[in-house]
Amino acid sequence: KYQAVIFDLDGVICSTDTYHYQAWKAIADELKIPFNETINHRLRGVSRMESFEIILEKYDKEMSREEKVSWTEKKNEIYKELLKNMSPADLSEEVKSTLDALREKGLLLAIGSSSKNAGFILGQLGLGEYFDAVSDGNNITKSKPDPEVFVKAAQFIGKEPEVCLVVEDAKAGVEAAKAGGMDCAAIGDAVKCGMAEHNLSTFADLLQVVQES
Ligand code: BG6
Ligand code: MG
Repeated sequence: KYQAVIFDLDGVICSTDTYHYQAWKAIADELKIPFNETINHRLRGVSRMESFEIILEKYDKEMSREEKVSWTEKKNEIYKELLKNMSPADLSEEVKSTLDALREKGLLLAIGSSSKNAGFILGQLGLGEYFDAVSDGNNITKSKPDPEVFVKAAQFIGKEPEVCLVVEDAKAGVEAAKAGGMDCAAIGDAVKCGMAEHNLSTFADLLQVVQES
């Protein structure tokens, strides 16, 4: 059934959670806003500005649009500095060999990520030229749970949504896949939402899901 797999990036192909956390924590500390891992968790899959709005729920002053833009830019500078620590060694053997095996079976492989840093991260991991298409925060106007990022990914590789399988670790991403008419394989935290067609206990389980489809 499936002819293509569209992967979320952060939390699926690699783990950037602690870098996001450290960068947001620096901003929150400067603004004297309480911030912890639980709040960080809510930022998964949503855009940079939406993430900041969630952090600002605990801020009791008013902030202009310009100020918000400037704080999110500052967060991204810190985040990008931290991303420089990433290298091909951060790509797990399991992920790489599963991707290679899927490609061997003739499936097209794409990225569907809310991040505007997707290209940079893929480069750091040594996957700069690997995927057949990359749909990310730079080519969308609405972020997950809106389906736009996945719909665009499917268009980029020339496949109908029905033959695409999305792999997601965040509830917002599973919702986005569903809204785009695509099946979803949940991994990690997204399994809990119980909304996906398939639930993976390991990334390599993906091979079996595709084989049995
Ligand atoms: C998603 C992450 O992939 O990208 C979110 O899960 C993040 O936590 C979003 O907010 C936007 O990322 P960036 O890199 O454009 O700030
Ligand atoms: Mg994710």
